[in-house]
Amino acid sequence: MPGDTDDPPTRALASPSSDNPSSDNPSPDGASPDGAARGEPGRPAGERPLLVLGAGVMGCGITALALSRGLPVLLVDPDADRLDAARADVRAHLRTAQLLGVATGPLGELSTATDPSGAHEVVAVVEAVTEDAETKAKALTGVCATVPPGTPLVSNTSSIPMGELAPALPRPGDLVGAHFMNPPYLIPAVEVARGPLTSDAAFTGLTALLARLGRAPVQVGDAPGFVTSRLLHPMINDAARVVESGTADAAAVDALMRDCLGHREGPLRTADLIGIDNLVDSLRVLRLRTGDERCEPCDLLLAKVGAGHLGRKSGRGFYDYGHPGREGTGR
Ligand SMILES: NC(=O)c1ccc[n+]([C@@H]2O[C@H](COP(=O)([O-])OP(=O)(O)OC[C@H]3O[C@@H](n4cnc5c(N)ncnc54)[C@H](O)[C@@H]3O)[C@@H](O)[C@H]2O)c1
Repeated sequence: MPGDTDDPPTRALASPSSDNPSSDNPSPDGASPDGAARGEPGRPAGERPLLVLGAGVMGCGITALALSRGLPVLLVDPDADRLDAARADVRAHLRTAQLLGVATGPLGELSTATDPSGAHEVVAVVEAVTEDAETKAKALTGVCATVPPGTPLVSNTSSIPMGELAPALPRPGDLVGAHFMNPPYLIPAVEVARGPLTSDAAFTGLTALLARLGRAPVQVGDAPGFVTSRLLHPMINDAARVVESGTADAAAVDALMRDCLGHREGPLRTADLIGIDNLVDSLRVLRLRTGDERCEPCDLLLAKVGAGHLGRKSGRGFYDYGHPGREGTGR
């Protein structure tokens, strides 16, 4: 039974913009923050960390996946409050992963920072920031000033093609797409997209990273929404439209999709797991790039975002969760 002693060793890295540029924090179990570098059993000595940009739903999930595989992680988000909450979210994910038997070995070390300037030698960068092309280009351009050329820049975008994002970066060849699903530590496959500018080295680096994480790549073309978001997100939008029109409530829509049509969970519970704000952002990306009217976010989704009812992460969306939490394991 996992308990507090199974928490990953953590530390906050000093960084120029950090509110807490202090020295290392001790880990919850009192382990040395340098444990990984000293080569504890199951942790390859001196293994370079994974740099994860964005400590939201997916950044925390990808971090938990990497830590569960013994890989150290530096998790970066400019929002210091979010980073505080992220440490608890990652711990909750790890407990779930341990309870479900998908994290059995020693955990990697978690470090956090409000900017990536402390990161130099990293195995790869995984970008999981807000679904907006400009925000992503800015975050990845910033990290290029820190990590050496040839470091794979892996985008976890749901919808933005690599061919669109790459030209905005100083090192377009290093960019490659890997669409982890939510929650990443439970879902064994990853949708992978190589853009027209992606180098062989970046693609090979991503393949090696996914192997290290025990994830199977499924390669698809570089198109808006790739395959999964192109199919799933308009379907969720339609499900919300059904609720909006009064034909059925969310519970009935989900029950029918689950119990009659064999979906793992209903589309509206999935919307809550994704985060309705992120879903709306992704639908807008799809609408703009495909012209498909089905992708125009419906009024009900927009109203939920306006009211701050974002799903599990805010404690309420189509369902009420009682308290905010990102540790959803609904699919
Ligand atoms: N939510 C899902 O189920 C899901 C699934 C697959 C892919 N994605 C994709 O993953 C990405 C992240 O989605 P999310 O749901 O985790 O979003 P989120 O809104 O939960 O988190 C985004 C985080 O990015 C941070 N951020 C913004 N600018 C940053 C910067 N310059 N550097 C570092 N951090 C920055 C924000 O502070 C926020 O904490 C999006 O591209 C999304 O489309 C989401």
